[in-house]
Amino acid sequence: MLISEFHIVPATPDMLPDILALEEACFSSPWTRKMLEAELTDNQFAHFLVARQREESVAQAEPTIIGYHCFWIVFEELRLMNLAVRESMRRRGVGGALVTEALRLGLEQAVTRAVLEVRASNDSARSLYTHLGFLQVGCRPRYYMNPIEDAVLMEMHPLVLSSGS
Ligand SMILES: CC(C)(COP(=O)(O)OP(=O)(O)OC[C@H]1O[C@@H](n2cnc3c(N)ncnc32)[C@H](O)[C@@H]1OP(=O)(O)O)[C@@H](O)C(=O)NCCC(=O)NCCS
Repeated sequence: MLISEFHIVPATPDMLPDILALEEACFSSPWTRKMLEAELTDNQFAHFLVARQREESVAQAEPTIIGYHCFWIVFEELRLMNLAVRESMRRRGVGGALVTEALRLGLEQAVTRAVLEVRASNDSARSLYTHLGFLQVGCRPRYYMNPIEDAVLMEMHPLVLSSGS
């Protein structure tokens, strides 16, 4: 897919049903509607982006939202909180574009460090973050439930946009 076949925009509350459906399809312990709504409307640190297919390339009755990314900017630190791409749309640059846009916004706000936690078994996400320039900096044993699993801590410090982004 060419980068021009999707675009990234801030999420709005009317997108919640599509975001929730994607969240539930992608995670074994999905965020609830309330949790997503709180990030969208009540959290002063939270930013929420969605990737949408342009109208002409959306097949009828398919949801428009193909990915989303929730992240926090807390003073000098950017925290990646939640990222997902519709399964049928993976390996086309959508996840990378969503994280890159967050890094770009972080740089605009003088962020110096980006951090995240990821399930140790999540090879796709770990590859994506490594591909973008994050380094593994630690491990939190048995951090996740359902199933119980270690979290790998990754960091980018200073923030750098990878070439081509
Ligand atoms: C992780 C996830 C968001 C990646 O999204 P994506 O749109 O497929 O990622 P991209 O297409 O931008 O991938 C960019 C690069 O990341 C790496 N990568 C991504 N998925 C990969 C995979 N399954 N295997 C190996 N490398 C992978 C590759 O280097 C890839 O570049 P390439 O395709 O040119 O080789 C997606 O797989 C997903 O939604 N997974 C389920 C939810 C999840 O795990 N979220 C992350 C929680 S921390």
